[in-house]
Amino acid sequence: MHILLVGATGIIGNAVHEALLEHGHRVIAAGHTHGKLTVDLSNPRSIEELYTLTGSVDAVICAAGRARFGPLDELGDDDFNLSIRNKMMGQVNLVRSGLGIVAEGGSFTLTTGGLSQNPEAGTSAVSMVGAGIEAFARGAAIDLKQRYRVNVVSPGWVAETRQQMGLDPMPGIWAKDLAKYYVYLAEGTVTGEVANADEPLVSS
Ligand SMILES: NC(=O)c1ccc[n+]([C@@H]2O[C@H](COP(=O)([O-])OP(=O)(O)OC[C@H]3O[C@@H](n4cnc5c(N)ncnc54)[C@H](OP(=O)(O)O)[C@@H]3O)[C@@H](O)[C@H]2O)c1
Repeated sequence: MHILLVGATGIIGNAVHEALLEHGHRVIAAGHTHGKLTVDLSNPRSIEELYTLTGSVDAVICAAGRARFGPLDELGDDDFNLSIRNKMMGQVNLVRSGLGIVAEGGSFTLTTGGLSQNPEAGTSAVSMVGAGIEAFARGAAIDLKQRYRVNVVSPGWVAETRQQMGLDPMPGIWAKDLAKYYVYLAEGTVTGEVANADEPLVSS
């Protein structure tokens, strides 16, 4: 398949890129500040321009999206707006603008995080937009049935991220194990699925 990968330069995106290549897919890699192709998820026009450059693809995977952490009484309008515009509407618009450009029968795979369903202290904005994306994907999968599949990977803590923060990598999931969820959803037949990816995928 010919796959557009947004967030290809990140910890998760890098691993997804490698896994897709191992599976024989052709990947168009897009970053934000790095990479041959760049896109700003928070800017709908930038997403449209990206699709103009890529033309038709068979699948889109997004391993990007920023949202603000912080205690509720310290989060301001800017923090909520950034989280909504970037992580949530960025991924929603990646689907909306891809309709008619992504080949029919193709798929969109988005990214949330375990905090979407299991909030912790200081995650109200992050959890809010993650839950929004998951609800969007389930609804979009119904509307787009017969045309496109829409799924979500909800990663647990990534081991490499924990290491970068000076923590023990465990409990975490290594990015190469997490990447298998994206490959599974892009290659598979399911739609409207939110894959909770906090441990390696067990293939049946
Ligand atoms: N790492 C974790 O433990 C973890 C756990 C759960 C969920 N997640 C979610 O998974 C996603 C990826 O995480 P990660 O750890 O791989 O992040 P990362 O290493 O920081 O990489 C982020 C990627 O997103 C791109 N990006 C940044 N701002 C963007 C924008 N405005 N428009 C388009 N692309 C943008 C970056 O591009 P440049 O490099 O070019 O700037 C990079 O490719 C995030 O949504 C994160 O919340 C991560």
